[in-house]
Amino acid sequence: MNILVLSGPNLNLLGTREPHIYGTTTLAQIEAGLVAVGAELGVGVTCRQSNHEGVLIDLIHAAKGDADGIVINAGAYSHTSLALRDALSAVAIPYAEVHLSNIFAREPERRHSTLASGARALLCGFGAPGYELALRGLVAALRA
Ligand code: DQA
Repeated sequence: MNILVLSGPNLNLLGTREPHIYGTTTLAQIEAGLVAVGAELGVGVTCRQSNHEGVLIDLIHAAKGDADGIVINAGAYSHTSLALRDALSAVAIPYAEVHLSNIFAREPERRHSTLASGARALLCGFGAPGYELALRGLVAALRA
């Protein structure tokens, strides 16, 4: 089983970006942890980050036939991008949406996700450990 972990805009700045909201763990640290968890679970984990909506869409398209599941934190595109939602629907790969912060406890414009209605699961508010929880949950769901 292969899982693609996709991170969207500004998540490359984790560690220094608004640490009171997003914590101090870097994306590289999160991704290294996910690869280690993947090894523990016997799952291949590939991590990609882009600040560009079209690049994220291309990565989703390329995952077809390769990834069995996607863990995605699309950052602010989660609130705006029908194109990302369409790409995920088009490839029909089960995905778990993850956010570091609890988007439902933040500004009104962050309380809606274009991706949520198609997601196998949505996990938000646990900070960096949420990625690992989402990965474990998605793998368990795919194996069930
Ligand atoms: C985020 C929440 C989004 O609203 C924000 O734009 C991000 C990060 C999160 O992980 O909490 O970039 O997706």
